[in-house]
Amino acid sequence: MDLSYIINQLGEEREQYFESVAPPIIQSSNFASKTVADMRYKMKHEVDEYMYTRGNNPTVSIFEKKMAALEGAEHAVAFGSGMGAVAAAVLSQVKAGDHIVCVKRPYTWTKNLLRRFLPRFGVEVTMVDGKNIGRIEEAIRPNTRLIYLESPTSFTFELQDLTAVAAVAKENNCSTIIDNSFASPLHQNPISFGIDLVVHSCTKYIGGHSDVMGGVVCGSREQINQIFKGEFMTLGAVMSPHDAWLFIRGLRTLPVRMDRVAATTRRVVDYLLQHPKVEQVLFPFLPTHPQYELAQRQMRNNSGQFTLLLKAARMEQVDRFCDSLKHFLMAASWGGHESLIFPISATYASEEMKSDLPFNMVRFYVGLEDPDYLIRDLEQALDTM
Ligand SMILES: Cc1ncc(COP(=O)(O)O)c(C=O)c1O
Repeated sequence: MDLSYIINQLGEEREQYFESVAPPIIQSSNFASKTVADMRYKMKHEVDEYMYTRGNNPTVSIFEKKMAALEGAEHAVAFGSGMGAVAAAVLSQVKAGDHIVCVKRPYTWTKNLLRRFLPRFGVEVTMVDGKNIGRIEEAIRPNTRLIYLESPTSFTFELQDLTAVAAVAKENNCSTIIDNSFASPLHQNPISFGIDLVVHSCTKYIGGHSDVMGGVVCGSREQINQIFKGEFMTLGAVMSPHDAWLFIRGLRTLPVRMDRVAATTRRVVDYLLQHPKVEQVLFPFLPTHPQYELAQRQMRNNSGQFTLLLKAARMEQVDRFCDSLKHFLMAASWGGHESLIFPISATYASEEMKSDLPFNMVRFYVGLEDPDYLIRDLEQALDTM
């Protein structure tokens, strides 16, 4: 299916709504039946019918169809946040007594789900260095049911070999989930490498304007229907019709935004690499990066994230650099129009959130601004160190 078709047409039945180019927001929680027979049918086939918006809603369905197609999946189900999607996907794969193998340092709240929540329900988790397929294999036990991936990973942008992990999972009768938010569905399609379920925080690139929250799980029709009838309907973290409409609008410009972000990020990384105050840039799209070849093989392009290690002996120098930036906002999240930094040392404030990564690391997200405008800002901030 053509990318342009998916983004501009798929799922949109314009003849049903006055040929309007933008789809309607069907802001209704409830859908009526004309007869008892009609209602019985809907009750039996709720996964495919419009009955109640905690199940299906027509505006949300348009978005789900587009996301499934973008990921090369049979089906998708949308949630009110990325964590809603991550939690439902994980819970759908395990029961008490099971074990999960997860990559080291996943996104903070995914880690919280796996480390703090699941043990309460009798599910154990082992976190391993996902760069090394041997480590993943060694961690598998007879009761391992799930391998959870994030490629690239949060903060250090390490990759997992998706084909190799999918093969190991199949041999060991485990399912696989990947958080594909960092790459976006345009730059990596894990299902094509054999991964079972793909989750996204749509809050990031899909929305693209830092003004809406959502998530999605993509997979086979059978698995998505199972999640729909189980975790989705039961936990109720649904996407609202208005938010789905904003995500459909975000998708219209996703290819141009991703191209712009990719090109600007390369310019910014190139600038930083030659700067004497820069120790290292963690970015798998550099030919010198140990996983460059893997990045080329399983990703189509880089996105806007990388981590900078500053040559700084003291935390105050890093703070000064961060505080001096005028055009990079200091914030969590990423994927919007605005460039951002997240100093790792910000996590040191709380024991619960504290990262084991060094204080001289600053995560960057490069947005849609002009590259020279961003580089000038970096230059003056590096000078203050
Ligand atoms: C990699 C990753 N996955 C999932 C999430 C959670 O998404 P949301 O904030 O939409 O719940 C985030 C949020 O920052 C993230 O960075």
